[in-house]
Amino acid sequence: MRDRLDPEALSFAVLRGLAMIGGLAALSIAPLRPEHQIHLAPLLGAFIAYKALLFALLFFRPAGARPIFLATLGADLGIVFVLVWFTGGGESHFYLLFSVLVALNAYQFGPGIGVLAAIVSADLMAVANILVAPGVPWAHIGARAALFGFLGLALGHIASRERRARAEAEGFNAELRAALARLEEAKDRAVRAERLAAAGRVSARMAHEVRSPISAIGLNVEMLEEIVRGCPGPMMGDAGDLLRGIRAEVRRLAGLTDEYLTFSRLPRAQPQEDSINEMLDELVAFVKPEADQRGVVLVRDPDPLIPLFSFDRDLLRRAVLNLVKNGIEATPQGGWVLVATRLDGERAEVSVEDTGRGIDARDAPHLFEPFFTTKPRGTGLGLAIARQIAEEHGGTLRWANASGGGARFTLRLPLKGAAHG
Ligand SMILES: Nc1ncnc2c1ncn2[C@@H]1O[C@H](COP(=O)(O)OP(=O)(O)OP(=O)(O)O)[C@@H](O)[C@H]1O
Ligand SMILES: [Mg+2]
Repeated sequence: MRDRLDPEALSFAVLRGLAMIGGLAALSIAPLRPEHQIHLAPLLGAFIAYKALLFALLFFRPAGARPIFLATLGADLGIVFVLVWFTGGGESHFYLLFSVLVALNAYQFGPGIGVLAAIVSADLMAVANILVAPGVPWAHIGARAALFGFLGLALGHIASRERRARAEAEGFNAELRAALARLEEAKDRAVRAERLAAAGRVSARMAHEVRSPISAIGLNVEMLEEIVRGCPGPMMGDAGDLLRGIRAEVRRLAGLTDEYLTFSRLPRAQPQEDSINEMLDELVAFVKPEADQRGVVLVRDPDPLIPLFSFDRDLLRRAVLNLVKNGIEATPQGGWVLVATRLDGERAEVSVEDTGRGIDARDAPHLFEPFFTTKPRGTGLGLAIARQIAEEHGGTLRWANASGGGARFTLRLPLKGAAHG
């Protein structure tokens, strides 16, 4: 798209043209000597043609408005000089057009250009005074020059001050608009968060309400299984199978409600000085039977340099357990899951790496969303809980696909207040 001339530059161009042509016309009212009068009409015509050319140039080169204006200021001064020269030199009252140029350009470009235009005008008036004998006394030229200088300086100064104030006001305005947009956004977020919190409270209530009947159903099914086992008969085998199916589903539902309640009512961390390596040894021993059953090897790589530090053993154990379980579930038979620790400055790192298929790019943005799962029997709360626990400890939980193809989840926890030993 073509650039457009900005409105300020356009109004300056129009004003300058009008002021010059209007000034010329106004000064022409005062009678000139006949020998001078003859030059006026062709000069006026040339001036109008030149202004039309300037507008055409500005229209096709709007980006170069400033250099065009500065260059044509020179041309304007030259034209006024010719006019003054041909209409009586120092005697011609057309010298007043210099003041229009000085004033307009001082206003547009500041005191520097204003004073420069005044100096050039004074020089040109002096030349015209020399060229047309007998000329006016030099004191007249000096007085005119001083007046133009003051005009350029004062008007340029006022204009720059006004421009600075306007820029400042525009800056404030932009800041205000940005702050308002941020406020709107924060309000939207707060409304959304409140709605989610309300939904969370309702579902926590429901989970709580259904938990008791679910465990009652589980108990009754177990009792029914006992009864069925005690009554041999052709149909009882099928009834036993059905009851086992029901019990498995009931157990899954009970697990789901428990997980959900854990997530929604995760207790505040109660940190106590402890050994993270020891906690992980115990955890690995606890999960080993499940890993063995799936043909997955659990490997430990503890960093002995990690000092004792404060963390909530139960919560952190739950977080790492979720990561290790995910690792085992993702790893095919014959693969391994590595649980490692590392001291990294003021932080302890616990990483769980597996030799599974890694995280699918499509799943990546949703991993930590509650209830996001790709497993037929998953709750999708494991990673959400683990991240919440990491944050509760002032730490982070991040993931990356390991170079070997599997996934690596890393918990980073601050050691703050760690007791070395
Ligand atoms: N080590 C991993 N390798 C590949 N994908 C993973 C891994 N860990 C998590 N995921 C992906 O992230 C999803 C969410 O994991 P999350 O632990 O939150 O829930 P889940 O494992 O599906 O359910 P639950 O933890 O209740 O059994 C998983 O379903 C799986 O798609
Ligand atoms: Mg999981």
